[in-house]
Amino acid sequence: MSDRPAAPELFTWEFATDPYPAYAWLREHAPVHRAKLPSGVEAWLVTRYGDARQALADQRLSKNPAHHDEPAHAKGKTGIPGERKAELMTHLLNIDPPDHTRLRRLVSKAFTPRRVAEFAPRVQELTDRLIDDFAERGSADLIHEFAFPLPIYAICDLLGVPREDQDDFRDWAGMMIRHGGGPRGGVARSVKKMRGYLLELIHKKREAPGDDLISGLIKASDHGEHLTENEAAAMAFILLFAGFETTVNLIGNGVYALLRNPEQRERLQDALAAGDTGLLETGVEELLRYDGPVEMATWRFATETLTLGGQEIPAGDPVLVVLAAADRDPERFDGPDTLDLARRDNQHLGYGHGIHYCLGAPLARLEGQTALATLLTRLPDLRLGADPAELRWRGGLIMRGLRTLPVEFSASH
Ligand code: HEM
Repeated sequence: MSDRPAAPELFTWEFATDPYPAYAWLREHAPVHRAKLPSGVEAWLVTRYGDARQALADQRLSKNPAHHDEPAHAKGKTGIPGERKAELMTHLLNIDPPDHTRLRRLVSKAFTPRRVAEFAPRVQELTDRLIDDFAERGSADLIHEFAFPLPIYAICDLLGVPREDQDDFRDWAGMMIRHGGGPRGGVARSVKKMRGYLLELIHKKREAPGDDLISGLIKASDHGEHLTENEAAAMAFILLFAGFETTVNLIGNGVYALLRNPEQRERLQDALAAGDTGLLETGVEELLRYDGPVEMATWRFATETLTLGGQEIPAGDPVLVVLAAADRDPERFDGPDTLDLARRDNQHLGYGHGIHYCLGAPLARLEGQTALATLLTRLPDLRLGADPAELRWRGGLIMRGLRTLPVEFSASH
């Protein structure tokens, strides 16, 4: 055995609070590392930028959990989504070409950058309304009062969920985010209610289409092919599911990073005051690189034995690409642990890479930019309302973000 220092402990409370020292160790000493996950499953963690980018684009790494060579005793208990075979789980993030190509092409016809751009005034209105609710108070919890409701209302609006039903979605999503890895009962009930609601909504929109994304999904056709109602429901669900907690954490982690880097935050505020949005655009990308919401890309499974970063990965083994580690790789980024909102050469992996590259990136950028610019402009003296050591992080396998973000500011009207 070598005399290298012992591997850091992963998936502990300290790791959720600050995983970056452990990632630096892995990149250096064990860039493709077999780790035991909290569920007991063993998976390969890929932490270097070059290997990560290669793995994300490697078609031998399938997204379909059927390729997992699961030990019999662990069947159904691995926590790998899709292994439970719920109806909503046959979606983009669990399938490979050619099915993936077909479904992605169909959804891309409805979920276009143009539709997102037209949605900008609504995101601004929602952002302002949420800030109005606490601006006079002088303090707030930015996760619960801002970062959490904004994306859920935004996606509901985009999908065409009537306003009067959106608080139900807020509750179901809240249950899913709070108990993601916890008690199954409440989460399963919330997913079931969401599915029931979405199927009914799809049915109604088929009868009376509107100008919304669900109507667009129903109408979308490709060489005469359409989504079935079940496929459309699974698609609406994955848009909610993939676009919700990610955006909560983009806003939460992003505001936190800005508050911890006052010089950078001041530069951004000055640029915004001068009407220059260039720094906002590069800044949101940098926040994604620096402390992005998706810690590890979703599961992949080796369909054949392959070699990655010099390590042999046997067929059937699960692989997790650690985006957060790759995006701090000093081989790829200058001063990777420094937040530089003006960073130019910034091909980060925060949205993934290859055929599963985030479909919602234009919406995430719109929400992230609107949220940060409006907060910093309307509450210019925004500051942390707690000692950073007291803040608690929610560290799942896939996602990482703050549980609460108490802030203070001069009350405004
Ligand atoms: C895929 C990140 C917001 C919808 C992905 C992937 C990443 C990611 C890393 C690839 C996962 C993999 O390869 O295993 C993010 C981040 C977001 C964000 C960091 C916010 C800051 C959104 C939003 C939506 C969305 C707002 C939609 C409303 C999707 C979908 C996929 C995806 C549908 C699957 C695409 C496919 O498999 O072809 N996202 N996402 N995401 N994202 Fe996002």
